[in-house]
Amino acid sequence: MQAKEIRKSFLEFIKERGHQIVPSASLLPENDPTTLFTGSGMQPMVPYLLGEKYPGGIKRVANSQKCFRSGDIEEVGDNRHTTFFEMLGNWSFGDYFKKEQIAWLFEFLTKELKLDPERLFVSVYRGNEKLGLPKEKEAVEVWQEQFRKVGLEAEAVSNAEKKGMGSGKIFYYSDKENWWSRAGTPDKMPVGEPGGPDSEIFWDFGPEHKFHENSPWADQPCHPACDCGRFMEIGNSVFMQYQKTENGFRELKQKNIDFGGGLERLTAATLDNPDIFLIDLFDLPRKKLEEISRRQYTESEEVRKSFRIILDHLRAATFLINDGAEPSNKDQGYFTRRLIRRAVRFGHQLGIETNFTKDIAQAVVKTYQDYYTDLTDNADRIYRVIEEEEGKFRKTLRKGLKLIKNYELQIKNEEVKITGKDVFDLYQTYGFPIEMSFEELEKIGIKFNQEKLQKEFNGELQKHKNLSRTASAGKFKGGLADHDKKTTQLHTVTHLMLAGLRKVLGKQVTQKGSNITPERIRFDFSFDRAITDEEKESVEKFVNDALRSGGKVTLTEMPKQQAMDEGVTGAFWEKYPEQVKVYTITAPDGTIYSRELCGGPHVKNLSEIKGTFKILKEKSSGAGVRRIKALVE
Ligand code: ALA
Repeated sequence: MQAKEIRKSFLEFIKERGHQIVPSASLLPENDPTTLFTGSGMQPMVPYLLGEKYPGGIKRVANSQKCFRSGDIEEVGDNRHTTFFEMLGNWSFGDYFKKEQIAWLFEFLTKELKLDPERLFVSVYRGNEKLGLPKEKEAVEVWQEQFRKVGLEAEAVSNAEKKGMGSGKIFYYSDKENWWSRAGTPDKMPVGEPGGPDSEIFWDFGPEHKFHENSPWADQPCHPACDCGRFMEIGNSVFMQYQKTENGFRELKQKNIDFGGGLERLTAATLDNPDIFLIDLFDLPRKKLEEISRRQYTESEEVRKSFRIILDHLRAATFLINDGAEPSNKDQGYFTRRLIRRAVRFGHQLGIETNFTKDIAQAVVKTYQDYYTDLTDNADRIYRVIEEEEGKFRKTLRKGLKLIKNYELQIKNEEVKITGKDVFDLYQTYGFPIEMSFEELEKIGIKFNQEKLQKEFNGELQKHKNLSRTASAGKFKGGLADHDKKTTQLHTVTHLMLAGLRKVLGKQVTQKGSNITPERIRFDFSFDRAITDEEKESVEKFVNDALRSGGKVTLTEMPKQQAMDEGVTGAFWEKYPEQVKVYTITAPDGTIYSRELCGGPHVKNLSEIKGTFKILKEKSSGAGVRRIKALVE
């Protein structure tokens, strides 16, 4: 089975077990200032894991969720890491728990995907006494029962990291491996965040896939979580049952399941080939790249690495642009820019000197458009944006090469000394990976001590990484609770603002995107000219009058079709399930200010929002789209 069939098979299998299949959320989380990207299937589900009612009171949902993990950019190049991937997921909101989850997963893997149970291995949580988190017992028993049904005795072992795997089938690991939350290990979680012990499942590609003798793992004991290349994690069942509080962990009222399985990896296991870049989802783009570069994917390890980086990065960029993250210097757009630039650079290593990113993006759209149908609508914009960015970067690249040329001119007259800082600048400003700088410098005959330069470069890189880590850690500062309250208030104000815009400018105004932090609203909407000062003031007045009126916000649920028929304001209808939530803001005299399709959350009464609404800026954000920055102060 290939990925497309596996996706379908999973959704059918899990639907038969009472789950409602819901659409994938956007890669850019809406109204969640704590994180830039949707990095797992559970992210859009956090409110429901914490106890909020899912529309329709549904307790079992599932989907294939688009995910992007920016932290993995530098990891890409081996046979298994990607920044973008699809996660097959199923959730229980206080409904079924470990027993059903493990049995279904085992059944899906061994019966539907026909994976040999002899080659499946699992891990469970060792517990953390200090935090009062117990060692896993129930999941071990359920796993053993499953294996026993197919005639296998599954021994549970500890300390495989030191002793090796022996005859173990089930492995106890610590916080780092077998605890899951969006923020990582228990100590890293902010107050309010849900998390829990988990149980991962691994596919064994066979001992021959243990890395070559010189690998850093060569003299260490091999076991499922050791990263030597023999095993691949293909799924993770999180027993989402705790919430972090000021004083440690408390049990949630409801016990949840959060399962996620990487579609690409499940496919690699099913095909019994650990190279995920050889599955169907990469076929078209890979062949296109072979055609353009006139190189073969199988040519050498070095060529393969460049191919993987290009294929991953341009697939991710295609999906990010599709969801609204166009290349820029900050926030999400910064990553789209980095991905495209890295792809062009590695294209340069393959000898590609003319624009090619659009061709690869076309192959990506073609591969995915049957399932992610919005790609077709956005295709032209994606191609235009990706090609523009490539053009810009090619100019920078040429400047970098010119800088190197300058060194060449200098060495005719004097000895040129290249420092780690120089190669780091080439990396940072012109996007040259260090190997490329070495190559270019060698070409012009500059002498340098490679080892020393590499060391200095690593030092600079470390400094830089620490800086950006500190910056992103700041995103969790203040805890979720406080962030949440302010963001919720601005979210309600956004609804009023959209209603005001539609009242003042006309009903053709629709939402194109929204990003809310505790400090400000950023909002994109369709409109084909700048708005005048009077119009701006009218919108402000509409919102401020409403805020002062002390109106109420109420939530009703209804079928999606009914909401459409009743003229509820909404964008991205296709991203909502069949049963939807509608938020209505009503004045004390009964006048309806706004009725909008939305997942929430919102304030209950407008009087909770103190201050005056103000539009700070209004500008163009692409053809036919305007962007507003606004706040309440
Ligand atoms: N949320 C879990 C993960 O991403 C399933 O691994």
